[in-house]
Amino acid sequence: QTADSLYIINQYAQKYFAEQLWENEMGQAVAYSYLQQRGFTDETMRKFGLGYCLNERDAFTKDALHNQYNKELLLKTGLVSQRDYGLQDNYRDRIIFPIHNHIGKIIGFGARLIKNRDNAPKYINTPENELYVKSKILYGIYFARQAIEKRDECLLVEGYTDVISLNQAGVENVVASGGTSLTPDQLRLIKRYTKHLTILYDGDAAGIKAALRGLDLALAEGLYVRLVLLPNGEDPDSYVQKVGKDEFNEYINNNKKDFILFQTELALKEAGNDSQKRSEVVNRIAESISKIDKAEDFSRQQDYIRQSASLLKVDEEGLINLVNKYIREKL
Ligand code: CTP
Ligand code: MN
Ligand code: MN
Ligand code: MN
Ligand code: MN
Repeated sequence: QTADSLYIINQYAQKYFAEQLWENEMGQAVAYSYLQQRGFTDETMRKFGLGYCLNERDAFTKDALHNQYNKELLLKTGLVSQRDYGLQDNYRDRIIFPIHNHIGKIIGFGARLIKNRDNAPKYINTPENELYVKSKILYGIYFARQAIEKRDECLLVEGYTDVISLNQAGVENVVASGGTSLTPDQLRLIKRYTKHLTILYDGDAAGIKAALRGLDLALAEGLYVRLVLLPNGEDPDSYVQKVGKDEFNEYINNNKKDFILFQTELALKEAGNDSQKRSEVVNRIAESISKIDKAEDFSRQQDYIRQSASLLKVDEEGLINLVNKYIREKL
């Protein structure tokens, strides 16, 4: 009941904000020109339903109330908030990114500042409500699902603009996690369409960390995970806008690394010659490998054991025993 009403409000709000982007003078001067400068075409802006919230106290709120939308529900959407003097718009002077579920219904919004302001977050997102359950959301899934099935691979990026730029470049099998590590629900949603997950994260330390956090969960879900680190300072949006579609695809294909092997190499580099640390690495990798369900994928597990043993310079027998120990602990 509440959910149905929220869908209706969200749909109305998306239309309203898109109208401000396309029809309003300020929307054109401020928001449209910003998006254009970022390299987005009209077609792309329309496909993703982008919009703009005017830099006014309550322009949206007034329109919504005038159209008889319920105040409590409006508050639930996070689009407006309650102040002493009344309701006010929450996403003032921000670009609005509607977030669709896998069947194309709008479940919430992301809102990006156009000009960086002190102590205002760059993005604000819908608060948790009946529709917007952060742990289940994959931005872009509606536009990606056919391509994911067709190419039997899902690309995972961090942000809204990464998804949008890649789509514009013809790479459509892409979704975003919102920068946080993947949850089991998100992984299960991906698994409906493919078992092949390729993570494209920023090449900085934070990006690597965020990427690694999802690994064991993804393995436990039976996904085949690969990782691409982008050149330093680039995210998928900036990089594809810079080098174009062909060079971008070439880079992805040349730099895809199996996740477990990537993790092994990284951990070894960090451990250096410290034997204590190196044995911790062996343990950690064994635990990761144990997450691959043996019955389902025995030969894959054997492959990992062989390759990791060689990278770690330990004998296979020992690694097998360690992996088995972790499998027993799991039971
Ligand atoms: N994010 C968020 N809240 C923030 C910062 C980031 O929810 N305060 C989420 C957004 O989904 C964002 C993603 O994390 O898209 C990645 O963050 P970041 O890389 O900082 O932003 P970009 O997506 O690169 O956005 P832009 O290119 O517009 O700066
Ligand atoms: Mn396959
Ligand atoms: Mn980053
Ligand atoms: Mn980014
Ligand atoms: Mn970016």
